[in-house]
Amino acid sequence: MNHKIAVIPGDGIGPEIVREARKVLDAAGKKFGFTLDYTELLMGGASIDVHGIPLTDETIAAAKASEAVLMGSIGGDAKTSPWYQLPPEKRPEAGLLKIRKALNLFANVRPAYLYEELKEACPLRDEIIGDGFDMVIMRELTGGLYFGERKTIEENGVKKAIDTLSYDENEIRRIAKRGFDIAMKRKKKVTSVDKANVLDSSRLWRAVVEEVAKEYPEVTLEHMLVDNCAMQLVRDPKQFDVILTENMFGDILSDEASMVTGSIGMLSSASLNETKFGLYEPSHGSAPDIAGQDVANPIATVLSAAMMLRYSLDLDEAADAIEAAVKQVLKEGYRTGDIMSEGCKKVGTTEMGDLIAQRV
Ligand code: IPM
Ligand code: MG
Repeated sequence: MNHKIAVIPGDGIGPEIVREARKVLDAAGKKFGFTLDYTELLMGGASIDVHGIPLTDETIAAAKASEAVLMGSIGGDAKTSPWYQLPPEKRPEAGLLKIRKALNLFANVRPAYLYEELKEACPLRDEIIGDGFDMVIMRELTGGLYFGERKTIEENGVKKAIDTLSYDENEIRRIAKRGFDIAMKRKKKVTSVDKANVLDSSRLWRAVVEEVAKEYPEVTLEHMLVDNCAMQLVRDPKQFDVILTENMFGDILSDEASMVTGSIGMLSSASLNETKFGLYEPSHGSAPDIAGQDVANPIATVLSAAMMLRYSLDLDEAADAIEAAVKQVLKEGYRTGDIMSEGCKKVGTTEMGDLIAQRV
């Protein structure tokens, strides 16, 4: 079976981590009898350099014509890169937001899992870690503050900036359903995170989530205010199974959740729409400071590629094999710099990719 995959290497460490993920995917293809036909697309700074804008209509069309998109990372150093001299809507990040919206990728799934082998890298105390934790953040990705009306004006000589946070009940309902669906396949607990003590959008969020919960009697629903959630993630991360939340809260909480696992370099993500189509990218950014040095950790991208096989291509066995290969490599003591601890063997980006590919 041949599958059509769009690949967006992007900026910074993007091209090198995507190269390793492809290596691993191809190894899985050989073993499980499928091939992937890749079309490379430009987005972010790489697209600005060629087309002057971070995402072209042709790129959107090519992405739509594929079964899934595998992405590295986009963006550069905001202080030094010329991309950040451009107006906000022409900067690399605008390309990412535009493709999320254009492909209707409203459901962003970000697993945060503590690998037994990486306990050393976890900044929390042993008694908090216990026997580890395993949660998924279900972040709404095409609404809220990111896509509300935005402007900067001047009133009586005073500059004023306005961002708008709005959600309609349908947007809330569809992401809530996704959250409950995932919970049904896990520990059957949803923590819906909002700021209902202050925001109208959060009060509507809470009411709609309650309604959706009635269709899932087996799932335990709990509501948590976002400030409390930020605290609970470091106080007792074991309590979480699925965290369901709006766009901005999910952006912040997913970085925090990834840090408690020890390395943001380990965390994959999937952005999904109503169909099987999805965009798969690591949860981390483009790390321009270490780009091209063969030191970046490719594991988050490799695991995102595994999610792609599972969710978009129904190649569960191959996805399992990739995840097992990652665990195996960690068990054997191989580490990139970000997850290095005493007594382990330090390897670079390419070697890490080779090691995982060999073990698939
Ligand atoms: C993320 C990133 C993006 C976001 C940026 C790059 C616009 O932080 O995917 O979490 O805020 O969504
Ligand atoms: Mg983020």
